[in-house]
Amino acid sequence: MKKKVLLIYYSQSGQLKEITQQITKPLHEEDQVQVDVLTIKMETDFPFPWTSEAFFDVFPDTFLQEPHAIKPVSETILKQEYNLILFAYQPWYLSPSIPANSFLKSSYAQQLFSKGVPVVSIIGSRNMWAMAQEKVKQLLKDYDTTLVGNIVLADRNPNLISAYTIVKWMFTGEKRKFGIFPKPGISQAEINASDKFGEVILKHLKSNNYNKLQTDLLEKGAVEIPHFLIQIDKTANKMFTKWANAIKNKKGKSRKRWLKGFYYYLVIAIWILSPIVNVIYWLIYPFRYKKIKKETTYFRGV
Ligand SMILES: Cc1cc2nc3c(=O)[nH]c(=O)nc-3n(C[C@H](O)[C@H](O)[C@H](O)COP(=O)(O)O)c2cc1C
Repeated sequence: MKKKVLLIYYSQSGQLKEITQQITKPLHEEDQVQVDVLTIKMETDFPFPWTSEAFFDVFPDTFLQEPHAIKPVSETILKQEYNLILFAYQPWYLSPSIPANSFLKSSYAQQLFSKGVPVVSIIGSRNMWAMAQEKVKQLLKDYDTTLVGNIVLADRNPNLISAYTIVKWMFTGEKRKFGIFPKPGISQAEINASDKFGEVILKHLKSNNYNKLQTDLLEKGAVEIPHFLIQIDKTANKMFTKWANAIKNKKGKSRKRWLKGFYYYLVIAIWILSPIVNVIYWLIYPFRYKKIKKETTYFRGV
């Protein structure tokens, strides 16, 4: 009997789409595996390239995980019994993107995930995904699923450089070098090499045993995360909660003013506060070594 795998994703620039194509390559090449693809489609899609207004306006709904309407999923997919689901998403504002969150909260997810199927998450991020993954884990917990694996691709450039280049990319729609800066996003070499994760998934799919899947994925480098980014992610989540709740019900001119305020907050947080926090972080690093090790191990796992 053929093994059936469902890949679910949404992508604006095509980056996450390319990642999923590369990861599923070994599965596509295997006769005994059928891979179905479900592309999440929004009733009202987001612009790409982004306008500055749209980019900040999605912040409250993204962070508060307010679902938006998505287009219906084909009956053919909903009727299938899948052996494995690959759920690929991108973080927006330290949370699953609106398309990813909207899908996870939809009746389609209820139907597909409630069959107790094992899930592997695939993240195509800038570099800050840890708390978004906690939120996805929480949503998956509502269904009768087991998260058996997690693969993270990220921009490996220093945090401030990737923050600068991603904004250039998002606002021009061009994933290219800007001046002296490196290319934005996940490197082509990392994307091209990601079929190695597909090979690991295939092995476990064939044996129908996922107990050691994440361990095997980690051996191939599936999750590399500097602990400092987890720290920023956690702290920023606290601040974002305050901002999102303050802005969510604002309309018209008042909303615009608040979003402008949030923009200035972000500029200060990224360019002034985070370097200061970084210095303090390294000064107290030796005293927190054990805790840091423990937390990193947790976020590398499922
Ligand atoms: C509105 C918005 C917010 C984002 N916030 C984050 C974030 O918090 N953490 C992160 O690692 N990447 C963030 N990104 C980058 C995305 O996760 C993703 O890597 C990028 O948008 C490319 O994905 P695509 O395949 O949909 O084009 C953000 C992107 C957008 C558009």
